[in-house]
Amino acid sequence: MKLIYQYMLGFLVVVVTCLSIIAFAIYHYSENMAYQQTWMQMEGYSDNLQAMALRVNPATGNIQNITPETFASVQDVLANEKVTFAMFDKRGHELYPSVTNEPSFDHRTWKLLNAGTVIRERNSNHNQQAPLFRKHPMTYIIKPWFDKDNNLVAILWVGAEVSAVETSINSIKNNVILAFLISTIIAVIMSWFLANWQVKRIDRLRRATKQVAAGDFNVQITQNGRDEIDDLASDFNEMTHSLQKSDEEIERQEQRRKDFMADAAHEMRTPLTTINGLLEGLAYNAIPEESRDKSITLMRNETKRLIRLVNENLDYEKIRTNQIPLHQRTFAIKSPLENIVSQLTKKAEAAQDQLQLIVDEKATVYADYDRFIQIIFNITQNAIQFTKNGTVIIKAIHDSDLATTTITITDNGIGMSKDQVKNIWDRYYKADPSRKSTKYGESGLGLAIVHQLMQQHQGKIKVHSELNVGTTFTLIFYDETIITKKKDS
Ligand SMILES: Nc1ncnc2c1ncn2[C@@H]1O[C@H](COP(=O)(O)OP(=O)(O)OP(=O)(O)O)[C@@H](O)[C@H]1O
Ligand SMILES: [Mg+2]
Repeated sequence: MKLIYQYMLGFLVVVVTCLSIIAFAIYHYSENMAYQQTWMQMEGYSDNLQAMALRVNPATGNIQNITPETFASVQDVLANEKVTFAMFDKRGHELYPSVTNEPSFDHRTWKLLNAGTVIRERNSNHNQQAPLFRKHPMTYIIKPWFDKDNNLVAILWVGAEVSAVETSINSIKNNVILAFLISTIIAVIMSWFLANWQVKRIDRLRRATKQVAAGDFNVQITQNGRDEIDDLASDFNEMTHSLQKSDEEIERQEQRRKDFMADAAHEMRTPLTTINGLLEGLAYNAIPEESRDKSITLMRNETKRLIRLVNENLDYEKIRTNQIPLHQRTFAIKSPLENIVSQLTKKAEAAQDQLQLIVDEKATVYADYDRFIQIIFNITQNAIQFTKNGTVIIKAIHDSDLATTTITITDNGIGMSKDQVKNIWDRYYKADPSRKSTKYGESGLGLAIVHQLMQQHQGKIKVHSELNVGTTFTLIFYDETIITKKKDS
């Protein structure tokens, strides 16, 4: 069954039950009232008659009994009201309208009357004391009359045809039925509106649920916190909110994963090219005997670095939690810088560039070894890439007083305009997008990676560039003492 009908049925059962109880109570009350009123009216007649009939004879001081003639005239007057009288003497013998010589009341009634009880009967032909009452059921009272010494002197029966009372009861009944019907119709209409309102609220929730099922988490339902459906709506809103959050988190993680993959590929391309070049050299005996060991060491170092790179960068859990740890330590930089230079020498030669390294034997840096190589490698590679027939100088100075290691990579290549410089740290930015991809990459990722790594090292990176003059990148690494202090504060 549809919810709207269930709701309506529920409302109706309650409303109709209440209405029935109320109607029944009103009907009964009114019926009682009608009878009470009739009886009171009759008792009123009886009292008036008593006042007339039991008048004291001033001469004798006796109660003067009413004559049948008086009754007949009173009866005539009250005939219009459909009220009938009967009079009995103190022995219960009927005096009016007929005259009998036998007691008219049964034993029980007679006892009650003697005790002064006024008998009230509704709609009855019981106590058929006189032929008159035998015909129709009547509503009547039987009232005993007493004199001032409390002796039973007479009994008066006053009755009305049942139909007279029934008329008023029937009209009450009709009114109650009408009221019941009208109220039921109003209840049906009201319950329809109420049920419809509730069903609409549920429908709203249903539509929102469908939207969420279709992947749209940006749904919020207005609610006033009034009832359980509002509570449900509020829970629903909370649910979509957290779904949206986790959806965004999934997207962020997916993006991070893609970034890490791209970064790793970017960082692997150059060493793989270097190794490949060296292997080819070895295969074709193109490497002089004295350089063979050096080449093999270079390849071993690079393959180890690649393995570390793969282990660190492609660990899914680390990507998910965005935690690629740095293993920072202080090491001498001369040898790693020389390695970089020897790896890039081929590239520099191809571009007819001079590659120079100026570094103090004892110069050190506090950094993650692999990341440090990555940083210098990227910048130097760029310098060679954007310089033809020029010079690229890598200069490293450790300042013990300032506790810093400053590395500058200078070229006299094509340089960049101020506008271009502004964007170089953005992922996938290329100052000159028309450049075709070469074997060295050119995806626009290198400097973004460098920038992020420098931030992780809490170091500084600056660039000074002039179009057609050249570019200088300045990197400042802080010594362990300063970094520890920074971390502590
Ligand atoms: N030394 C430089 N001289 C002139 N332009 C430079 C220099 N270094 C970087 N750029 C400009 O900055 C851009 C971004 O450099 P980035 O290293 O991020 O990307 P890329 O070298 O184009 O590609 P790759 O991802 O392979 O490094 C370069 O495309 C280039 O236009
Ligand atoms: Mg680059």
